[in-house]
Amino acid sequence: MSATLADRVSSRLRDIQDFPSPGILFKDVTPVLADPAVFGDVIRDMADRRRGTVDVIVGIEARGFIFGAALAHELGIGFVPIRKAGKLPGEVRGLTYDLEYGTATIEIHQDAFVGGERVLVVDDVLATGGTAEAACRLLDEAGATVVAFETLVELAFLPGRDRLVGREIHATVVVT
Ligand code: PRP
Repeated sequence: MSATLADRVSSRLRDIQDFPSPGILFKDVTPVLADPAVFGDVIRDMADRRRGTVDVIVGIEARGFIFGAALAHELGIGFVPIRKAGKLPGEVRGLTYDLEYGTATIEIHQDAFVGGERVLVVDDVLATGGTAEAACRLLDEAGATVVAFETLVELAFLPGRDRLVGREIHATVVVT
């Protein structure tokens, strides 16, 4: 029996203990990117799920850019980045959200959406869900329609999904 895409991706996820800070188990996706067959199949799988249903791909800095831009290219549609504060050169719309300690701010270009665009939000990992929730709220405020959140990996032992109630979520790999 051939391995599923989830199995092939899982075997290429590298766990790095205590990165970027003590107590955090970091899911490193770089081995997935380094394998062209697996990376290509991941993007084609995401594209097959969304073809004809979205107008724009939004990628979350930083690794969401890699998957999101490849997916946008595969679908032949545009890509919009959500960046950390102070990185985008034009007029921005921002949203500040709470972290365990402190806050973070994400931004999009003010003119990225006119309103009503069907958007797929893409990232590499769904962990606590704070980033994805903030991204979706920022897009709501910009007038876009968030169709779904697509991630390579969902850490299902964390309550990320609970932050996205009412939104469609798909993960290539669910880590329990
Ligand atoms: C990671 C990951 C997601 C986010 C998930 O990004 O790429 O964007 O954290 O975590 P959450 O569900 O708990 O919000 P990170 O903050 O490491 O930023 P980077 O991609 O720029 O390194």
